[in-house]
Amino acid sequence: MKKIKLALNYNNMMSAKLGNGGITAAHINGMKPRIKAAHNNLKQKREDGLLGFFYLPYDVKMREEVRKTAEIINSKFENFVVLGIGGSALGTVALARALKHPFYNMLPADKRKGPKLFVMDNVDPETCAGLFDIIDLKKTVINIITKSGDTAETISWMKILWGKLENKLGKDKLKDHIVITTDKEKGFLRKLVNRHGFISFAVPDNVGGRFSVFSPVGLLPLASIGVNIDELLKGAAYMDTLTSNDNVWKNPAYMAAVLHYLSDIKFKRNITVMMPYSNALNYISDWFAQLWAESLGKKLSLDGKTVNAGLTPVKALGATDQHSQSQLYMEGPFDKVVTFIRVEKFRQDIAMPSNFNDEESAAYLSGQKMSKLLNTEEKATEMAMTKNKRANMTITLPEISEFTLGQLIYLLEVETAFMGELYNINAFDQPGVELGKTATYAMMGRKGFKDKLEHIAVGKDRKKFII
Ligand code: PA5
Repeated sequence: MKKIKLALNYNNMMSAKLGNGGITAAHINGMKPRIKAAHNNLKQKREDGLLGFFYLPYDVKMREEVRKTAEIINSKFENFVVLGIGGSALGTVALARALKHPFYNMLPADKRKGPKLFVMDNVDPETCAGLFDIIDLKKTVINIITKSGDTAETISWMKILWGKLENKLGKDKLKDHIVITTDKEKGFLRKLVNRHGFISFAVPDNVGGRFSVFSPVGLLPLASIGVNIDELLKGAAYMDTLTSNDNVWKNPAYMAAVLHYLSDIKFKRNITVMMPYSNALNYISDWFAQLWAESLGKKLSLDGKTVNAGLTPVKALGATDQHSQSQLYMEGPFDKVVTFIRVEKFRQDIAMPSNFNDEESAAYLSGQKMSKLLNTEEKATEMAMTKNKRANMTITLPEISEFTLGQLIYLLEVETAFMGELYNINAFDQPGVELGKTATYAMMGRKGFKDKLEHIAVGKDRKKFII
């Protein structure tokens, strides 16, 4: 099989381009003992079965089960509604947007060849009410996804949809319209599965939400709308061969992590901008922002010291944000590393017709392809940033396909896990998120949480500081 491999170009991070503000080979080689230790730790955790995301590309049984259910859903339903938030939603959105038609839900059924996809995460009452204006529940399957079985947003969406389904179709039809993805044994949702016999999938214990897109969390909705999950996982497995290499010079995930780490430690560049030049890849940045923020933003190191580690992820889109955020990146503080994502060959292209040739500002575009303009803008921004001594690197996808997206997702997952090791923090927990969840439960009156509020609330809210 011809390997369509993505590439990481980090020339514009290095001293040859950035002078004193650049990273040198000596900096990277100087980190070798640290890199070796991080590699060994990660390898050990993988072998001990603590990090399940490493194994998802190889779980053939899970993939087959997903595929069987997805085939039925694909042929039977007009709408696929995901109820889930954070790691239970963002990967699906990112990959559906990347791999399906840009206006997928608006295509006629014979062109769409699968149900429309709606991912309902936020508890916004207007969105919720609006959904019922456009879907017919009789033609809808609902995939409730929550690893913990506890998340307020997902449970409230579930309550509403459950109530509507019961009213419209009757209790005995619930089973035909609901699929549950949750912990294999624990939690409220698993109880429901056991009680009512819903079709269900398990989120493996050792796979955290933000690392779960290659589990049934992401695979079921994606396969149901016709994404080729075999190719996606093949891409991930291929990247696994590259990111298992202990030599940082040959391992794109380790190299990207080391460059970000050195940028932070040596140059105080602690903002990570992800800027794809492709609308299809726009939501990869949202998914990445969660992965990076929730994994690396940690108060404590593994040995219990207060470190308040973390790099702030920022989402940008090329060329759109050249006309908004770029000015800051070119001339503002030297506190960012920009990662461009560029696509060599677009699935569709369109040439500009030869018209308005008597006008300078339009004539030069005649006969040129839109992809050329977009990719030239990417190159031009790279050059201008480098000229201004702004650290940047570029991930190039030869094309947008399941195989290359599988690589990209897996690369960023391993990079994040490796960053956790370099910072000596636990990249796989999220105590900060849990604290917010606890406060919500307490304020919404959940049993057993009332007294927890006293430990969370800080002072009284004073009227005099409100205008
Ligand atoms: O990555 C994570 O762990 C979180 O973002 C969760 O995915 C998110 O909070 C939703 O949790 P759950 O799947 O338990 O509803």
